[in-house]
Amino acid sequence: MRTVKVPLADRTYPIHIGAGLLADLGKHCAHQKLGQRCVVISDTTVARRYRKPALASLKAAGFAPVFISQPAGEQAKTLKNVQACYDQLAKHRIERGSFVVALGGGVVGDMAGFVAATYLRGIDFVQVPTTLLAQVDSSVGGKVGVNLAAGKNLVGAFHQPKFVLCDLDTLRTLPAREFRAGLAEVIKYGIIYDAKLFTRLERDLPKLLQQHPATLAAVIARCCQIKAAVVGLDENETGLRAILNFGHTLGHGLEAISKYGKYLHGEAISIGQVAAARISQAQAGLPAKDTARITALFKNTGLPTSVKLTLAQTKRLFTAIQLDKKVTAGQINFVLAKKIGQVLTGQKVQPAQIRQSLNLQPSTLNLPNGC
Ligand code: NAD
Ligand code: GLY
Repeated sequence: MRTVKVPLADRTYPIHIGAGLLADLGKHCAHQKLGQRCVVISDTTVARRYRKPALASLKAAGFAPVFISQPAGEQAKTLKNVQACYDQLAKHRIERGSFVVALGGGVVGDMAGFVAATYLRGIDFVQVPTTLLAQVDSSVGGKVGVNLAAGKNLVGAFHQPKFVLCDLDTLRTLPAREFRAGLAEVIKYGIIYDAKLFTRLERDLPKLLQQHPATLAAVIARCCQIKAAVVGLDENETGLRAILNFGHTLGHGLEAISKYGKYLHGEAISIGQVAAARISQAQAGLPAKDTARITALFKNTGLPTSVKLTLAQTKRLFTAIQLDKKVTAGQINFVLAKKIGQVLTGQKVQPAQIRQSLNLQPSTLNLPNGC
């Protein structure tokens, strides 16, 4: 087992990474001296496979868990489902000393984390991520929340887990499309922070796609180290943490205009990162050969790198972008790459540049804020 620490003073917590760790869930909860009563929140797909071992491990360690499952998928990341969880927590008389276990992908982690952040003004929670995307990104760092029809993650909080448990065995049951979507966040770390990781991904992509155990464990651990370092320096995203949003402004916009049903999050940010690379080449000095390498790596991973939008969809995309959390005083802020491994935050990008990066037709409609 590898352990990476998220350094947050008295709220420092470990990310444990290894095979077969779900069986130790109860032991890790006991080690953290968590309250005896807990609620495991999951989705129906994950529950079918991992409900039993999670509950068995908690019970064996002396905990008294109850289990709640929600529908699977991005469309379930709603306030309505949060409300349904609150009702269950109240029904089971969950108290301040109780805790929540988020068992699933990023949707479950974000939603269950938000429930834990807000129920009784905040109770403890632990993350047990079961998708690649959740293991390398969403389970770490304490961003929790849900979507609105108007935009992604518009309601949320910062609430750090007590620990994160990444059982690599759970990835074996993940559909190939979901695994590839997780690689979009892995590639992001190479672009924003670690040129050596990017080169390794280019070299080891076939091994990663086959889930070669040692390669996968090393890459997940490296991504967690990067995320932990960034969060440790800027927990509440007042500066540095924004680098993690590379490609996300457009990605979130695409998710919102397709009603969270067409693209997986990783697919949407793959398109967003390729567009961000093109914008970076045009206005931040990213060498053309780096843009080509970035585009090729996403393509070779089997991820989408372009999108076709009608005029009406383009208009909706710009409306969604304007609602993004990264917009300040009506200005669209982007993270742009200077070179692979180094990015700049807070870069103003003109709507025409965005349209060009996605190969969208110039619009004759009145788009919001001159888009
Ligand atoms: P997801 O949670 O929807 O999981 C993907 C699908 O895989 C679901 O259908 C799920 O039921 C299924 N699944 C999960 N684990 C499985 C397993 N082991 N075996 C078989 N099936 C399994 O999606 P995701 O990609 O994990 O997460 C995406 C979400 O994460 C988005 O909402 C995104 O906004 C969020 N996110 C949050 C942060 C953050 O910092 N909080 C960072 C990145 C992404
Ligand atoms: N995934 C963005 C963040 O955690 O800040």
